Amino acid sequence: MAEEEVKFKVTIDGIPVEVAPGTTILNAARQIGGDIVPPAMCYYSKLEGSGGKCRTCLVKVAKGSEKDPRPMPKLVASCRTTVMDGMEVHNITSPEVIEARRGVVEFLLINHPLDCPVCDQAGECKLQDLSYEHGLEQTRFEFSKRTFERIDIGGKIQLHMNRCILCYRCVYVANQLTDNREHGIIGRGIHSEISTYIEKALDSDFIGNVIDVCPVGALTDRTFRFKNRVWFTKPVNAHRDCPTCSGKVTLWYKGEDVLRVTGRKDEFGEVEEFICDTCRFETKSTADWILEEPAPIDHESVIAANHYYEFNLPPVIQENKKLQLANEEQLARTERLK
Ligand code: SF4
Ligand code: FES
Repeated sequence: MAEEEVKFKVTIDGIPVEVAPGTTILNAARQIGGDIVPPAMCYYSKLEGSGGKCRTCLVKVAKGSEKDPRPMPKLVASCRTTVMDGMEVHNITSPEVIEARRGVVEFLLINHPLDCPVCDQAGECKLQDLSYEHGLEQTRFEFSKRTFERIDIGGKIQLHMNRCILCYRCVYVANQLTDNREHGIIGRGIHSEISTYIEKALDSDFIGNVIDVCPVGALTDRTFRFKNRVWFTKPVNAHRDCPTCSGKVTLWYKGEDVLRVTGRKDEFGEVEEFICDTCRFETKSTADWILEEPAPIDHESVIAANHYYEFNLPPVIQENKKLQLANEEQLARTERLK
């Protein structure tokens, strides 16, 4: 007789879900979906060992488990904390979590410049979204932000360290996707920085993926930089027969020109499959690709402006009064859009 699969029952913001033992709170929340999913600036499900650096995913564990119902004494990083059977977690329904997230965003912005109007990542930057949602109107930081010169890493990628939030994602990409790791984080504390050790060019078939995983505008595509604002482009999913990767990409069109090629991103902003540098940098003609469909864009993204997607609240929010209260602002916007 087949063994019955063990599942842990967890409740996140009042919504129950059953997940396999060993699942993190963040991934359990992702199985539910919608606004109760904590933001993640450093965790990346496709990169082993990622997470635990940025603290944006903090949640409150109000009940540890069925066996030991005591709450956890402090907020925990949901990307690194695994679920227990009977656990009760609060995210957007906890004022304590929202307050802590505000603090984390303030810390992340201590050294990050507010140069969104000139940053290539504007419109698809997770830190920009977070600071709109949780940021203060003015900084309380009285010292000068740390600054660095821009560095060209190879011919196609530029590193602007001023914007780096030290999430380590690009380091994991280089470690796990390429043959020779040639870059990493050197220095400690405020002196930490991404370095290519003697500015060695990162040269590998998959190194372009550091651009896709970077949550801010620290690593950008030199073949696209300053060509256009992302909300003026039209993303279209396409594929080609590529000997190196799956060849499944998103083409970003302006008129008839393909301005850039990226991996396809899922609802959590993570690439579905890593793509090779030939697909990303060398094949920018429509004739290279078989077009599929307009790429789905999150309704909250500025890229969706002018794309006329219907605004629909996720069902988990529509059905849950507690969540509706926590989402008052979003509900008000829905009403305006009706
Ligand atoms: S460059 Fe980008 S991906 Fe790399 S650590 Fe900094 S923020 Fe993270
Ligand atoms: S996503 Fe959990 S600590 Fe960064």
